[in-house]
Amino acid sequence: MRIGIYGGTFNPPHNGHLTAATAAAAQLKLDRLVLIPADIPPHKALPAESAGAEDRLEMTRLAAGYLHTVCPVDVLDWEINRGGTSYTSDTLRQMREHYPNDELWLLMGTDMFLSFLTWHEPETILSLAGIAAFGRERGDDLTGQKARLERDYGARIQLVDNPEIIELSSTEVRKALRTGDGSSLLPAAVYGYILRRGLYGTQTDLRCLTPDTLRPIALSYLKHKRMAHVLGTEEEAVRLARLYGEDETKARLAALLHDCTKKLDLPQQLALCDTYHIPLDEMERHALKLLHAKTGAAIAREVFGLSEEICSAIEWHTTGRANMSRLEKILYLADYIEPSREFRDEPDVAHLRQICYEDLDRGMLLGLEMVIQEMEGMGNPIHPHTVAARDWLMKEGVQP
Ligand SMILES: [Fe+2]
Ligand SMILES: [Fe+2]
Repeated sequence: MRIGIYGGTFNPPHNGHLTAATAAAAQLKLDRLVLIPADIPPHKALPAESAGAEDRLEMTRLAAGYLHTVCPVDVLDWEINRGGTSYTSDTLRQMREHYPNDELWLLMGTDMFLSFLTWHEPETILSLAGIAAFGRERGDDLTGQKARLERDYGARIQLVDNPEIIELSSTEVRKALRTGDGSSLLPAAVYGYILRRGLYGTQTDLRCLTPDTLRPIALSYLKHKRMAHVLGTEEEAVRLARLYGEDETKARLAALLHDCTKKLDLPQQLALCDTYHIPLDEMERHALKLLHAKTGAAIAREVFGLSEEICSAIEWHTTGRANMSRLEKILYLADYIEPSREFRDEPDVAHLRQICYEDLDRGMLLGLEMVIQEMEGMGNPIHPHTVAARDWLMKEGVQP
């Protein structure tokens, strides 16, 4: 296996890192890429306005999601866990232990490549890995250094052509962020994470956000693979809101946050329930799927100050309930029929979508019945609120 190793402070990881990693992965035909945020970089002191190690690690994880279409990517916390000055030679020794028979390539940009011989244990590094060097700016000349390292040290060097080069440093990104700019320089979820955590001098009042400002922040809560679903749910919720005279902004805000705690595991969910004093019944205590709706509503209320109407749409988006509001129905159904769902094998969902566009209540009744049937088919318990929602609609005279 051919593994690329890309270290750095990632303070923050930005689009320049992504294009360089993409070019290196393609040209070296990497089977895997690992990103390793440094704890304390040996080459330069971290500037005062830096993000902490845990934040840099989390931002690197978010950035890595954007590389999954290029090749499989891991983010390793080795250097941060080791603490102290992060020497590449130590990390490569550790990599070699993990991957004794694999081909290792260390990725680096111009500055690092040209100053390579001043690094700690450069010969050890060259004995453990090849170097894949890419220009940071157009016109960077790396050929002299390549020839010298090959001739004098027997190094394996590959120069990576970076056609999509983005001439950008983390210093410039931090400067842009401080002045209220920077969204175009960063992967959306990383930008959202920075705003959410108030990093690099950003000051975002989380309690009065427009959908456009909330969007990247909402993405920063998600696993990468769920982002298309949440954006699809927003799109679908707006479509239904327009059709049925609901407030579009409320539909967007509810959709953007509806799965914001979905990636948390059971202990993390239960901890949030404790923090926000969320009462749970016995069934909910063990059901992740049900918990994320409750904790998501709590985050929407407590962190983002959203109205009860929006929070309750989030709270009931998995089970439904009797006497649902129009916004609750819209989010419930948008979550179900949004465009990124796979329809090829689900003609039922395509049918549901059609009914939803004809009549919201009939769509709701059909959606609930499909869920009940699916649960019964799998031998799973059906939440009483789901049954109550269906019975309520039938009592109201909604025709299946
Ligand atoms: Fe959900
Ligand atoms: Fe969802």
